[in-house]
This record gives sequence, structure tokens and C-alpha cells, in this order.
Amino acid sequence: MLLNEIDKAAEFLRSQFTKQPKVGIILGTGLGGLVKEIKIEKSIDYKEIPNFPVSTVEGHSGRMIIGEIGNVPVLAMQGRFHYYEGYSMDKVTMPARVMKRAGINTLFVSNASGGLNPNYKVGTIMIINDHINHFGTNPLIGPNADEFGPRFPDMSEVYSKRLIKRAHEIANNEGIQVEEGVYVGTSGPTFETPSEYKMFRILGGDAVGMSTVPEVIIAHHAGMEVFGISIITDSGVPGEIKEVSHEEVQQVAAAAEPKMTKIISELVKSL
Ligand code: HPA
Repeated sequence: MLLNEIDKAAEFLRSQFTKQPKVGIILGTGLGGLVKEIKIEKSIDYKEIPNFPVSTVEGHSGRMIIGEIGNVPVLAMQGRFHYYEGYSMDKVTMPARVMKRAGINTLFVSNASGGLNPNYKVGTIMIINDHINHFGTNPLIGPNADEFGPRFPDMSEVYSKRLIKRAHEIANNEGIQVEEGVYVGTSGPTFETPSEYKMFRILGGDAVGMSTVPEVIIAHHAGMEVFGISIITDSGVPGEIKEVSHEEVQQVAAAAEPKMTKIISELVKSL
């Protein structure tokens, strides 16, 4: 996407801010409840934002929320764009670049995933400490956008160790059990076959899902500090695999929402 298209959206958002947001939050599955923690100043439909895509999938509305968590100004995206919906990688990742150009240097993301690590149960919360890009493409393919970052970006610490450490401290204080692991991002929309779950485990994954990796690559390329958290909504562990549906994923995620919300809101307040 052209820089001036991104900047039109960023300029529009800037014109709506009364305070500079410190963190951008993509409210993925399991984090919808975070909205209740936001002192909402303004809520903007994606269709009002110049050049912004519009989301289609059930359970994901499309609004940008400007507000505060504690005293920390935030910009929260309610509804994200998935590659499986047919959006180009440019569109899937546009919001991260818009956030960056709107002056935001920290990105928080959440998602739902299938568990690959045999120690995980349905309902486990996993702090993402690394990812494997299995989308079969990379959002940075094409001419490099030098305004954002280098042609060959380093990926040695994509998920901020500093924020991961702090999230563990918060979870500990709140008595919330969390795991830490590797998120495999793949296109979907199919859930995995048993053999695919097994493959992703062998490849080094602890959880697998259909989002996050593209936006995180773009954010990291642009020098943003990233924190990601995942809720395990179903099991991909041999012997424990059951039929899975989108509704079930939503249900398990909703049940874990208070815990996810607590961790993220305390983490934001600590920034
Ligand atoms: N696989 C991929 N994506 C998912 C899953 C899964 O098992 N559960 C929730 N999102």
C-alpha cells in the first residue's frame, strides 16, 4: 500500500486524538472484553477512516476506539482483517503501519489458537514469545518501504522480552496461570487436520492460529515493540483432538476473557 494512502488514514486518526496514544491494541478473539476497561473518548467506524479495509467475519466488528486505560491513552482496533477473508497482505497489515504513522510505537495483539503443546489445555493462556510464519507468503514481499524499516529486518527478538517479563509478574500477582510459547501463524480458514497439527508441533510450535503473524512482522519491521497473547480454544494434541467449530472457539475465548483483559490492562497501565 502506498505511503500516502497509509498517511491519509493516519492523519485522519491524528485529527481525532486529544492525546497521543501510547499503545495500539488489536482486540482479537478473547480480548473483546477489554473494551469495558477503556474510558472511551471516541469510537470510529472503519468505513469513516480513509483507505481503511472493512471486516466481515462473525464476532469481529469494525471500529477504532480512542480512549484511556488507567491514565494511558490507547488506540484499540475492534475487529481485524484476516488473510483468509481474501484481503491482500497489504490490507491485513495496513492498520499496524497506520498506527506507526499515527505516532504509536507499541503494539498489543491477541488471538485464539489450537494447542500443540501437550501440557496445554483448552482455556490455557499463552504469552507469545516467538512465531513461525506459515502463511506461505510474507507481508514485506515487494519493494521495501524504507520509511518504515530495512530490506532485511532482523527477527531475533520480535516479541518484547521486557513486556513478557512484566506480563509474567502481573499474571503472578493476579494469580492467573500463564504459559509462554511459539505461535504458528497459518492462513486458514480450515482448522488443521490431525497430521497438520502434528507437523506444526514437530516444527516447534506450541499453538497454531490464523492471524497475528502478518501484523507483527509489519510492526516489528517498523520498529514497534510488540506484545502478543493467545487463548488456547481447542486441542491439536494427538488423542485429544475433537471436532472444532468457530462457535466453540468464541465460547472458550469468551470464558478466558476476564483473565486476558486483566493481564493486558495492567500491562498497559505499567507503560
Ligand atoms: N487452528 C487454527 N486456528 C485456530 C484454532 C486451531 O485449532 N483454534 C482457534 N484458532
